[in-house]
Amino acid sequence: MGIEWRDSLATGVEVIDNQHKELLLRFDKLLTACQAGQGTEELKTLQAFLGDYVITHFNDEEALQRQHHYPDYEAHHAEHLRFIEKINKMKLETQKGGISTHHVIDTNNMLLKWLLNHISKVDTKLGAFLKTCTP
Ligand SMILES: [Fe+2]
Repeated sequence: MGIEWRDSLATGVEVIDNQHKELLLRFDKLLTACQAGQGTEELKTLQAFLGDYVITHFNDEEALQRQHHYPDYEAHHAEHLRFIEKINKMKLETQKGGISTHHVIDTNNMLLKWLLNHISKVDTKLGAFLKTCTP
């Protein structure tokens, strides 16, 4: 069973939801590649994607938060920073020593946690707040 978008993940902000959908598609691609024994190859592609993705996506989310004076901005921003740090650390490690199976497993775990703890909870909470801002 793969990873799929579901409406309960929606923030109600189209640009943000589309970015989340894209991330889930990429995550699903990694899982499919793992089943086919091509996880390390796919991780390379995913790392290249994530580098730009996190910058654009987090910038878009945080701009909205600042614009609407979101009270949980600092905590939300801190979670984004920690995610970027993890991604960068993994990227450095794999650039130095190559991609091993444990990097693929770690990335799967990291993305699953991100989906369950951040997108499903922290981002939907932001979405609920933003809905109160628009008349
Ligand atoms: Fe977020």
